[in-house]
Amino acid sequence: MEQLVVNGGVSLEGEVVTSGAKNSSVAILPAALMAGSPVTIENLPLIDDIITLKELIQFLGAEVQTNGYGSLTVDPQKANSFEAPYELVSKLRASYYFLGSLLTRFKKAIIPLPGGCPLGPRPMDQHIKGFQALGARVEIRHGCIHMEAEQLNGTEIYLDIVSVGATINLMLASVTAQGKTILENVAKEPEIVDIANFLNAMGADIVGAGTDVIKITGVKKLGGTNHMVIPDRIEAGTFILAAASTNSSVLVKEVIPKHLEAVTAKLKELGVDLDVGEDWIHVNGCSCPKPISIKTFPYPGFPTDLQSVIMPIMTKAKGPSMITENVFEARYKHVDELKRMGANILVEGRTAIIEGGESLSGAPVRATDLRAGAGLIIAGLMAKGETIISGVDHIDRGYENIEEKFNKLGAGIKRITEE
Ligand code: EPZ
Repeated sequence: MEQLVVNGGVSLEGEVVTSGAKNSSVAILPAALMAGSPVTIENLPLIDDIITLKELIQFLGAEVQTNGYGSLTVDPQKANSFEAPYELVSKLRASYYFLGSLLTRFKKAIIPLPGGCPLGPRPMDQHIKGFQALGARVEIRHGCIHMEAEQLNGTEIYLDIVSVGATINLMLASVTAQGKTILENVAKEPEIVDIANFLNAMGADIVGAGTDVIKITGVKKLGGTNHMVIPDRIEAGTFILAAASTNSSVLVKEVIPKHLEAVTAKLKELGVDLDVGEDWIHVNGCSCPKPISIKTFPYPGFPTDLQSVIMPIMTKAKGPSMITENVFEARYKHVDELKRMGANILVEGRTAIIEGGESLSGAPVRATDLRAGAGLIIAGLMAKGETIISGVDHIDRGYENIEEKFNKLGAGIKRITEE
């Protein structure tokens, strides 16, 4: 297995360009199978999840052509299977989007229960409730979700909990259903708007994405299109926080500032000096971070995906900070790793209290999910001495060329193979 070696006491400088949004791309690729002709997708991030999804789409019979950098053309016309293999599906949670897309394409889907980051139970009850409401029979047998429908009929579905995955999956399952589907209490993430725009470009009729009610009027069929994936707000936030945490001057380009409003607002409370442009954010440093309180919420609240990424800078604030993780039940696995580096953090249920005034020291640590890994890279850059991060495969699932991007800013991170 590979490891990242991070030498601390580093300040960063220069500019970094954000890649396409992982959490848009991992839904857009399965959705391409619903088209009646080739679909070209640009600005895909070159991450392991995309490689896995490409293999899955090819396994199902569709043709995938790699164009230029970050550009794929999917020709779904030869897709001939609705059953995805465990060894690929288990690599990422987003493989569950094949449920919605194959149900629309074939009125059948057999997908092993998905893998993905260990953030707590992560049930799929809202996905299944919605598929059943649309007319699908759903059974879980031998670790697989089996779905079948004679006909998908538009209906009203009220999500019990705001779920990004369920919102997207039920959009996919409704686009050619008979009649109108109204999805209520849905997630409003920018990636959902991006996917709805992609589906509408294919000929779907979706209104309301980005609000808590999405209305889908079923159409006869979907055609091909070209789509440019939006920038990844979580990757952008990661580099913005890396600059703030190391008191560095870094320009982050290819950003939609509106997607990061909750983050930049908190950074200003923290005492980060930053300028926001039309499609960029420039961090001028943070010499004396202030203690703050953060509560994660679905968009437009503070993103749960940046919770582990903002925690390191809190260890050097002048006083205790607090984080409340309202989205996932168990998203503090990175705390034990930060404590190995000298952080003083107390976790009680969904709340973490981060004592400030600490200086971190390098140590061997392990990434437990991709965002925890990103937080450990930042902690390593802040720490005195060397930090060796294992579990790099988690990070590679969601960050494109992460050490190359950091090293262009002067980080000096090395990738080695574990003894
Ligand atoms: C998506 O996960 C993202 N993954 C996650 O990003 C992100 O953290 C999360 O949304 C929240 O924004 C992808 O888009 C591939 P949810 P998802 O359904 O869809 C509960 C990353 O780092 N829930 O919005 O799985 C669930 O347990 C990843 O890029 C149910 O109870 O998240 C959680 O507590 C990590 N029943 C809450 O809802 C369901 O049927 C939100 O989950 C579905 C979800």
